[in-house]
Amino acid sequence: MLQRKIGNSYWETSAIALGNMRMAALTSTEAAEVLDTALENEINFIDSADMYGDGKSELIFGEALKEANISRDKFFIQSKGGIVTGDEKRYDFSKQHLLDSVDGILERMGIEYLDSYLLHRPDPLMEPEAIAEAFDILQANGKVRHFGVSNFNPEQFQMLQAVVDQKLMINQLQFSIMHTGMIDYGMHTNMTDTRSFDHDGGILEFARRNEVTIQAWSPFQYGFFEGVFVDNDKFPELNELLAKLAKKYDTNKNAIAVAWILRHPANMQVILGTMNPKRIKESAAGGAITLTKQEWYDVYFAAGNDLP
Ligand SMILES: NC(=O)c1ccc[n+]([C@@H]2O[C@H](COP(=O)([O-])OP(=O)(O)OC[C@H]3O[C@@H](n4cnc5c(N)ncnc54)[C@H](OP(=O)(O)O)[C@@H]3O)[C@@H](O)[C@H]2O)c1
Repeated sequence: MLQRKIGNSYWETSAIALGNMRMAALTSTEAAEVLDTALENEINFIDSADMYGDGKSELIFGEALKEANISRDKFFIQSKGGIVTGDEKRYDFSKQHLLDSVDGILERMGIEYLDSYLLHRPDPLMEPEAIAEAFDILQANGKVRHFGVSNFNPEQFQMLQAVVDQKLMINQLQFSIMHTGMIDYGMHTNMTDTRSFDHDGGILEFARRNEVTIQAWSPFQYGFFEGVFVDNDKFPELNELLAKLAKKYDTNKNAIAVAWILRHPANMQVILGTMNPKRIKESAAGGAITLTKQEWYDVYFAAGNDLP
Protein backbone atom coordinates (compact mmCIF):
# COMPACT_ATOMS: atom_id res chain seq x y z
CA MET A 1 0.00 0.00 0.00
CA LEU A 2 1.19 3.46 -0.94
CA GLN A 3 2.07 5.49 2.18
CA ARG A 4 1.57 9.18 2.88
CA LYS A 5 3.55 11.44 5.19
CA ILE A 6 0.98 13.54 7.04
CA GLY A 7 1.60 17.28 7.00
CA ASN A 8 5.19 18.12 7.92
CA SER A 9 5.37 15.25 10.43
CA TYR A 10 7.20 11.92 10.39
CA TRP A 11 3.80 10.32 10.73
CA GLU A 12 3.23 7.86 7.84
CA THR A 13 -0.05 6.12 7.12
CA SER A 14 -1.83 4.45 4.26
CA ALA A 15 -2.65 6.76 1.33
CA ILE A 16 -6.12 5.21 1.34
CA ALA A 17 -8.23 5.77 4.42
CA LEU A 18 -11.63 4.47 5.47
CA GLY A 19 -14.37 6.87 6.55
CA ASN A 20 -17.07 5.70 8.93
CA MET A 21 -19.81 8.20 7.95
CA ARG A 22 -21.99 5.34 6.73
CA MET A 23 -21.11 2.89 9.52
CA ALA A 24 -24.20 3.83 11.57
CA ALA A 25 -26.27 1.65 9.22
CA LEU A 26 -24.24 -1.50 10.05
CA THR A 27 -24.42 -3.98 12.87
CA SER A 28 -21.26 -4.21 14.95
CA THR A 29 -20.59 -7.63 13.37
CA GLU A 30 -20.80 -6.17 9.87
CA ALA A 31 -18.60 -3.26 10.94
CA ALA A 32 -16.06 -5.70 12.42
CA GLU A 33 -15.80 -7.34 9.00
CA VAL A 34 -15.30 -3.91 7.42
CA LEU A 35 -12.43 -3.12 9.82
CA ASP A 36 -10.83 -6.54 9.31
CA THR A 37 -11.06 -6.03 5.55
CA ALA A 38 -9.45 -2.59 5.81
CA LEU A 39 -6.47 -3.99 7.72
CA GLU A 40 -6.15 -7.00 5.40
CA ASN A 41 -5.84 -4.48 2.57
CA GLU A 42 -3.31 -2.35 4.49
CA ILE A 43 -5.68 0.54 5.14
CA ASN A 44 -4.70 1.78 8.59
CA PHE A 45 -6.33 5.21 8.73
CA ILE A 46 -9.88 5.75 9.99
CA ASP A 47 -11.78 9.00 9.51
CA SER A 48 -14.82 9.78 11.61
CA ALA A 49 -16.87 12.73 12.87
CA ASP A 50 -18.88 13.12 16.04
CA MET A 51 -21.99 13.95 13.96
CA TYR A 52 -21.99 10.82 11.76
CA GLY A 53 -25.24 9.06 12.50
CA ASP A 54 -25.58 11.46 15.45
CA GLY A 55 -22.76 9.56 17.14
CA LYS A 56 -23.95 6.10 16.14
CA SER A 57 -21.13 5.58 13.61
CA GLU A 58 -18.61 6.01 16.43
CA LEU A 59 -20.51 3.72 18.77
CA ILE A 60 -20.63 0.97 16.14
CA PHE A 61 -16.95 1.57 15.32
CA GLY A 62 -16.03 1.15 19.00
CA GLU A 63 -18.07 -2.05 19.30
CA ALA A 64 -16.59 -3.37 16.07
CA LEU A 65 -13.02 -2.76 17.26
CA LYS A 66 -13.76 -4.92 20.30
CA GLU A 67 -15.70 -7.55 18.40
CA ALA A 68 -12.92 -7.95 15.83
CA ASN A 69 -10.38 -7.92 18.67
CA ILE A 70 -8.36 -5.25 16.89
CA SER A 71 -5.97 -3.36 19.10
CA ARG A 72 -6.54 0.38 18.99
CA ASP A 73 -3.02 1.14 17.78
CA LYS A 74 -3.52 -0.84 14.56
CA PHE A 75 -5.30 2.26 13.24
CA PHE A 76 -4.58 5.96 13.05
CA ILE A 77 -7.92 7.18 14.29
CA GLN A 78 -9.16 10.61 13.32
CA SER A 79 -12.42 12.32 14.09
CA LYS A 80 -13.95 15.72 13.50
CA GLY A 81 -16.14 18.06 15.51
CA GLY A 82 -17.65 21.50 15.57
CA ILE A 83 -21.06 20.82 13.99
CA VAL A 84 -24.13 20.79 16.19
CA THR A 85 -27.08 18.80 14.84
CA GLY A 86 -30.46 17.77 16.20
CA ASP A 87 -32.87 20.26 17.77
CA GLU A 88 -30.21 22.93 17.51
CA LYS A 89 -28.25 23.53 14.32
CA ARG A 90 -25.01 25.51 14.12
CA TYR A 91 -21.28 25.29 13.74
CA ASP A 92 -19.59 25.66 17.12
CA PHE A 93 -15.86 26.06 17.72
CA SER A 94 -16.19 27.32 21.28
CA LYS A 95 -13.65 25.91 23.72
CA GLN A 96 -16.18 23.97 25.77
CA HIS A 97 -17.89 22.52 22.73
CA LEU A 98 -14.60 21.20 21.34
CA LEU A 99 -13.55 19.72 24.68
CA ASP A 100 -16.94 18.03 25.09
CA SER A 101 -16.84 16.85 21.46
CA VAL A 102 -13.56 15.00 21.98
CA ASP A 103 -14.71 13.47 25.28
CA GLY A 104 -17.85 12.21 23.54
CA ILE A 105 -15.86 10.71 20.66
CA LEU A 106 -13.43 8.90 22.97
CA GLU A 107 -16.27 7.53 25.07
CA ARG A 108 -18.29 6.30 22.08
CA MET A 109 -15.25 4.74 20.41
CA GLY A 110 -13.97 3.29 23.69
CA ILE A 111 -10.45 4.60 23.11
CA GLU A 112 -8.05 6.76 25.12
CA TYR A 113 -6.85 9.21 22.48
CA LEU A 114 -7.34 10.40 18.91
CA ASP A 115 -4.42 10.49 16.49
CA SER A 116 -5.98 13.56 14.91
CA TYR A 117 -8.94 15.83 15.43
CA LEU A 118 -10.25 18.17 12.73
CA LEU A 119 -12.58 21.16 12.82
CA HIS A 120 -15.32 19.90 10.52
CA ARG A 121 -16.62 23.03 8.71
CA PRO A 122 -15.55 26.65 9.22
CA ASP A 123 -17.61 28.40 11.88
CA PRO A 124 -18.04 32.08 10.95
CA LEU A 125 -18.20 32.85 14.68
CA MET A 126 -14.87 31.12 15.33
CA GLU A 127 -12.51 32.79 17.80
CA PRO A 128 -9.02 31.41 17.18
CA GLU A 129 -7.92 32.11 20.77
CA ALA A 130 -10.69 29.87 22.12
CA ILE A 131 -9.73 27.12 19.68
CA ALA A 132 -6.07 27.51 20.70
CA GLU A 133 -6.99 27.02 24.35
CA ALA A 134 -9.01 23.92 23.51
CA PHE A 135 -6.19 22.44 21.40
CA ASP A 136 -3.64 23.10 24.16
CA ILE A 137 -5.80 21.33 26.74
CA LEU A 138 -6.57 18.40 24.43
CA GLN A 139 -2.89 17.94 23.61
CA ALA A 140 -1.70 18.40 27.21
CA ASN A 141 -4.13 15.83 28.58
CA GLY A 142 -3.13 13.36 25.86
CA LYS A 143 -6.56 13.14 24.26
CA VAL A 144 -5.48 14.39 20.81
CA ARG A 145 -2.08 14.05 19.14
CA HIS A 146 -2.46 16.12 15.97
CA PHE A 147 -4.87 18.74 14.68
CA GLY A 148 -6.28 19.88 11.37
CA VAL A 149 -9.30 21.28 9.62
CA SER A 150 -11.84 20.37 7.00
CA ASN A 151 -13.43 22.47 4.24
CA PHE A 152 -11.30 25.52 5.17
CA ASN A 153 -10.06 28.06 2.64
CA PRO A 154 -6.50 29.45 2.89
CA GLU A 155 -7.55 32.67 4.66
CA GLN A 156 -9.46 30.76 7.32
CA PHE A 157 -6.60 28.31 7.65
CA GLN A 158 -4.00 31.04 8.09
CA MET A 159 -6.13 33.02 10.53
CA LEU A 160 -6.32 29.96 12.75
CA GLN A 161 -2.72 28.82 12.21
CA ALA A 162 -1.48 32.27 13.27
CA VAL A 163 -2.92 31.69 16.73
CA VAL A 164 -2.74 27.97 17.49
CA ASP A 165 0.65 26.53 18.50
CA GLN A 166 0.12 23.17 16.86
CA LYS A 167 0.82 22.80 13.15
CA LEU A 168 -2.46 22.20 11.30
CA MET A 169 -1.52 19.03 9.42
CA ILE A 170 -4.64 18.23 7.42
CA ASN A 171 -7.38 19.86 5.37
CA GLN A 172 -10.17 17.50 4.36
CA LEU A 173 -11.83 18.58 1.10
CA GLN A 174 -14.17 17.14 -1.49
CA PHE A 175 -12.18 16.00 -4.52
CA SER A 176 -12.83 13.33 -7.12
CA ILE A 177 -12.98 12.82 -10.87
CA MET A 178 -16.41 14.48 -10.79
CA HIS A 179 -15.51 17.23 -8.31
CA THR A 180 -12.50 19.09 -9.62
CA GLY A 181 -13.04 22.78 -8.80
CA MET A 182 -9.68 22.86 -7.00
CA ILE A 183 -7.85 22.23 -10.27
CA ASP A 184 -10.25 23.58 -12.94
CA TYR A 185 -9.81 27.23 -12.13
CA GLY A 186 -6.01 26.98 -12.32
CA MET A 187 -6.25 26.04 -16.00
CA HIS A 188 -8.78 28.80 -16.74
CA THR A 189 -6.96 31.75 -15.18
CA ASN A 190 -7.93 35.11 -16.66
CA MET A 191 -10.85 33.61 -18.57
CA THR A 192 -14.56 34.34 -18.27
CA ASP A 193 -16.08 30.83 -18.35
CA THR A 194 -17.56 29.21 -15.23
CA ARG A 195 -14.54 26.95 -14.72
CA SER A 196 -12.41 30.03 -14.13
CA PHE A 197 -14.19 30.63 -10.79
CA ASP A 198 -11.92 30.04 -7.84
CA HIS A 199 -14.25 28.53 -5.26
CA ASP A 200 -11.57 27.69 -2.72
CA GLY A 201 -9.05 30.56 -2.68
CA GLY A 202 -6.29 28.44 -4.17
CA ILE A 203 -6.50 25.84 -1.39
CA LEU A 204 -4.72 23.13 -3.37
CA GLU A 205 -1.65 25.27 -4.05
CA PHE A 206 -1.78 26.60 -0.49
CA ALA A 207 -1.75 23.06 0.91
CA ARG A 208 1.18 22.04 -1.28
CA ARG A 209 3.25 25.06 -0.28
CA ASN A 210 2.52 24.68 3.41
CA GLU A 211 2.87 20.89 3.79
CA VAL A 212 -0.78 20.32 4.58
CA THR A 213 -2.17 16.92 3.65
CA ILE A 214 -5.37 17.09 1.65
CA GLN A 215 -7.76 14.26 2.43
CA ALA A 216 -10.12 13.80 -0.52
CA TRP A 217 -13.60 12.95 0.70
CA SER A 218 -16.37 11.28 -1.35
CA PRO A 219 -14.07 9.87 -4.05
CA PHE A 220 -16.92 8.16 -5.94
CA GLN A 221 -19.68 10.79 -5.65
CA TYR A 222 -20.78 13.49 -8.04
CA GLY A 223 -22.42 16.69 -6.76
CA PHE A 224 -23.03 17.01 -3.04
CA PHE A 225 -24.00 13.36 -2.36
CA GLU A 226 -26.14 13.23 -5.52
CA GLY A 227 -24.95 9.74 -6.31
CA VAL A 228 -22.11 7.51 -7.40
CA PHE A 229 -20.59 8.09 -10.84
CA VAL A 230 -19.08 4.61 -11.13
CA ASP A 231 -21.37 2.35 -13.21
CA ASN A 232 -23.83 5.23 -13.55
CA ASP A 233 -25.57 5.53 -16.97
CA LYS A 234 -25.43 9.32 -16.64
CA PHE A 235 -21.69 9.18 -17.33
CA PRO A 236 -21.21 6.80 -20.28
CA GLU A 237 -17.96 8.26 -21.63
CA LEU A 238 -16.31 8.31 -18.22
CA ASN A 239 -17.40 4.75 -17.42
CA GLU A 240 -16.18 3.51 -20.77
CA LEU A 241 -12.73 4.92 -20.10
CA LEU A 242 -12.66 3.69 -16.50
CA ALA A 243 -13.51 0.22 -17.81
CA LYS A 244 -10.78 0.43 -20.45
CA LEU A 245 -8.17 1.48 -17.89
CA ALA A 246 -9.41 -1.14 -15.43
CA LYS A 247 -8.79 -3.75 -18.12
CA LYS A 248 -5.32 -2.40 -18.90
CA TYR A 249 -4.29 -2.44 -15.21
CA ASP A 250 -6.11 -5.70 -14.52
CA THR A 251 -8.26 -4.05 -11.89
CA ASN A 252 -11.71 -2.42 -11.46
CA LYS A 253 -13.28 1.01 -12.00
CA ASN A 254 -13.28 2.06 -8.33
CA ALA A 255 -9.53 1.42 -8.19
CA ILE A 256 -8.97 3.64 -11.23
CA ALA A 257 -11.05 6.41 -9.61
CA VAL A 258 -8.83 6.15 -6.52
CA ALA A 259 -5.64 6.02 -8.59
CA TRP A 260 -6.72 9.18 -10.40
CA ILE A 261 -6.77 11.12 -7.11
CA LEU A 262 -3.53 9.60 -5.87
CA ARG A 263 -1.79 10.49 -9.16
CA HIS A 264 -1.99 14.19 -8.33
CA PRO A 265 1.40 15.34 -6.96
CA ALA A 266 -0.19 17.01 -3.92
CA ASN A 267 0.16 13.58 -2.21
CA MET A 268 -3.44 13.47 -1.10
CA GLN A 269 -5.08 10.76 0.94
CA VAL A 270 -8.33 9.26 -0.34
CA ILE A 271 -11.13 8.59 2.15
CA LEU A 272 -13.31 5.70 1.06
CA GLY A 273 -16.88 5.61 2.26
CA THR A 274 -17.88 2.16 1.10
CA MET A 275 -19.04 -0.25 3.78
CA ASN A 276 -18.93 -3.20 1.41
CA PRO A 277 -15.90 -5.43 2.12
CA LYS A 278 -15.62 -6.48 -1.55
CA ARG A 279 -15.61 -2.84 -2.64
CA ILE A 280 -13.06 -1.87 0.03
CA LYS A 281 -10.72 -4.49 -1.40
CA GLU A 282 -11.40 -3.36 -4.97
CA SER A 283 -10.87 0.32 -4.11
CA ALA A 284 -7.68 -0.38 -2.15
CA ALA A 285 -6.18 -1.83 -5.32
CA GLY A 286 -6.01 1.78 -6.60
CA GLY A 287 -3.09 2.33 -4.23
CA ALA A 288 -0.87 0.18 -6.44
CA ILE A 289 -1.66 1.87 -9.75
CA THR A 290 0.17 4.85 -11.24
CA LEU A 291 -1.72 6.31 -14.17
CA THR A 292 0.30 7.99 -16.93
CA LYS A 293 -0.07 11.73 -17.33
CA GLN A 294 -2.07 11.23 -20.52
CA GLU A 295 -4.39 8.76 -18.79
CA TRP A 296 -4.93 11.26 -15.98
CA TYR A 297 -5.86 13.95 -18.50
CA ASP A 298 -8.02 11.56 -20.52
CA VAL A 299 -10.07 10.71 -17.41
CA TYR A 300 -10.43 14.45 -16.72
CA PHE A 301 -11.75 14.95 -20.28
CA ALA A 302 -14.08 11.95 -20.06
CA ALA A 303 -15.62 13.57 -16.98
CA GLY A 304 -16.77 16.45 -19.20
CA ASN A 305 -13.80 18.81 -18.95
CA ASP A 306 -11.50 20.20 -21.61
CA LEU A 307 -8.47 22.45 -21.86
CA PRO A 308 -8.69 26.08 -22.93
N1 LIG B 1 -15.14 16.54 5.74
C1 LIG B 1 -16.33 16.47 5.21
O1 LIG B 1 -17.07 17.45 5.14
C2 LIG B 1 -16.80 15.14 4.70
C3 LIG B 1 -17.99 15.05 3.98
C4 LIG B 1 -18.40 13.80 3.53
C5 LIG B 1 -17.64 12.67 3.77
N2 LIG B 1 -16.48 12.78 4.48
C6 LIG B 1 -15.65 11.58 4.75
O2 LIG B 1 -15.43 10.91 3.54
C7 LIG B 1 -15.82 9.55 3.66
C8 LIG B 1 -16.30 9.05 2.34
O3 LIG B 1 -17.46 9.74 1.93
P1 LIG B 1 -18.55 9.01 1.03
O4 LIG B 1 -19.09 7.84 1.74
O5 LIG B 1 -19.49 10.05 0.52
O6 LIG B 1 -17.58 8.54 -0.17
P2 LIG B 1 -17.65 7.56 -1.40
O7 LIG B 1 -16.65 6.50 -1.16
O8 LIG B 1 -17.51 8.42 -2.59
O9 LIG B 1 -19.11 6.94 -1.42
C9 LIG B 1 -19.43 5.76 -0.75
C10 LIG B 1 -20.81 5.34 -1.20
O10 LIG B 1 -20.75 5.03 -2.58
C11 LIG B 1 -21.20 3.70 -2.79
N3 LIG B 1 -20.41 3.14 -3.90
C12 LIG B 1 -19.08 3.23 -4.09
N4 LIG B 1 -18.72 2.62 -5.25
C13 LIG B 1 -19.84 2.14 -5.80
C14 LIG B 1 -20.12 1.43 -6.98
N5 LIG B 1 -19.16 1.06 -7.83
N6 LIG B 1 -21.38 1.13 -7.25
C15 LIG B 1 -22.37 1.46 -6.40
N7 LIG B 1 -22.18 2.13 -5.23
C16 LIG B 1 -20.93 2.48 -4.93
C17 LIG B 1 -20.98 3.00 -1.49
O11 LIG B 1 -21.88 1.92 -1.38
P3 LIG B 1 -21.40 0.54 -0.66
O12 LIG B 1 -21.21 0.87 0.78
O13 LIG B 1 -22.53 -0.37 -0.93
O14 LIG B 1 -20.14 0.13 -1.34
C18 LIG B 1 -21.30 4.09 -0.48
O15 LIG B 1 -22.70 4.21 -0.30
C19 LIG B 1 -16.87 9.55 4.78
O16 LIG B 1 -16.99 8.30 5.40
C20 LIG B 1 -16.30 10.59 5.70
O17 LIG B 1 -15.31 9.98 6.51
C21 LIG B 1 -16.05 13.99 4.93
